[in-house]
Amino acid sequence: MHDLHKFDNIVKELQKKYIAIEQDTDDHLYGLLYSKPITYWDYIQTDALLSLQIQRTTLPDEMVFIAYHQINELIFKMILWEISQVAEKEELNVEYFESKIMRISRYFDMLTTSFNIMREGMEVEQYMKFRYTLTPASGFQSAQYRLIEFASTELINLIDYRFRKDINRDTPFTHAFEHLYWQAAGKDHKTGKKSTLLINFEKRYKEDFLRFMETYNTKNLWTRFKELPKADQKDDDLVKAMRHYDYTVNVTWVMAHYNAAVHYIESGIGDGEATGGSDWKKYMHPKYQKRIFFPDLWTEDELENWGQNI
Ligand code: HEM
Repeated sequence: MHDLHKFDNIVKELQKKYIAIEQDTDDHLYGLLYSKPITYWDYIQTDALLSLQIQRTTLPDEMVFIAYHQINELIFKMILWEISQVAEKEELNVEYFESKIMRISRYFDMLTTSFNIMREGMEVEQYMKFRYTLTPASGFQSAQYRLIEFASTELINLIDYRFRKDINRDTPFTHAFEHLYWQAAGKDHKTGKKSTLLINFEKRYKEDFLRFMETYNTKNLWTRFKELPKADQKDDDLVKAMRHYDYTVNVTWVMAHYNAAVHYIESGIGDGEATGGSDWKKYMHPKYQKRIFFPDLWTEDELENWGQNI
């Protein structure tokens, strides 16, 4: 036999909640009488999620390619979710910062260690066929990947090395955008003409990126770290966590990605060209790209040899 009195307090709390938003508690209680009990599949939206893997070819391994990219996008979403909480936190302290960086790092660790699903999980012969139906698209056009970069560090650290001395805090965002390191993958380096890969990407996302760059200019992870009291910036665990994140995103993941590209594109089947059309071998290697989110947390020597010893 249920003791009805034990619900009195809950009803009072509900009443408080609905009065505060000028709602009738009775109406909401009646609503509960007819609401459907929740199921796993309704809550997780399993049917919707599993209907999104649409192949463009008859080759079975294309399914691996699509699903793994989608898994990456979901994880990118979780990373951005965690970063946004650090960005918005009013009284940021070391423990909170470190726990969030560790969460973000675990996601990137997972993406790095799972990259073999790409490298070993598809037959080279199949990949080299279905990739032609993807031209001129590329993972380069993952907008969330770019958002993670903007949200992780100051813009100057994402500017192509050749132009860094001409860009500072007063540079308009539109100008800085044209000199982001990844513009190099989408431009003919002799004429400066943009490729279809880059033109399509910018048409779809440039406005969003400019807004996001401006928003995160003052609350990216690196800026928020530098706002901590000096003593906190020396906290061993936090520094270790920040370095781990930087290294995982910008060296370990990049190398796993690069090695997968070498495995397929240099397999001897096909023309050795990337679907996005970049000078990929040079562009993708961390030792050339030298993208580093938190430069002050590395020694001169480590910066100099970035991506060389892996
Ligand atoms: C067989 C698997 C893969 C191959 C061969 C491959 C190849 C490439 C190549 C050659 C580029 C350079 C741009 C171009 O010309 O296309 C690139 C860029 C990129 N790809 Fe992949 N990729 C693979 C899987 C993935 C996966 C699973 C992701 C996850 C979303 C991804 C995300 C990216 C990103 C974010 C870039 C831009 C990197 C940067 O600007 O530094 N790729 N990829």
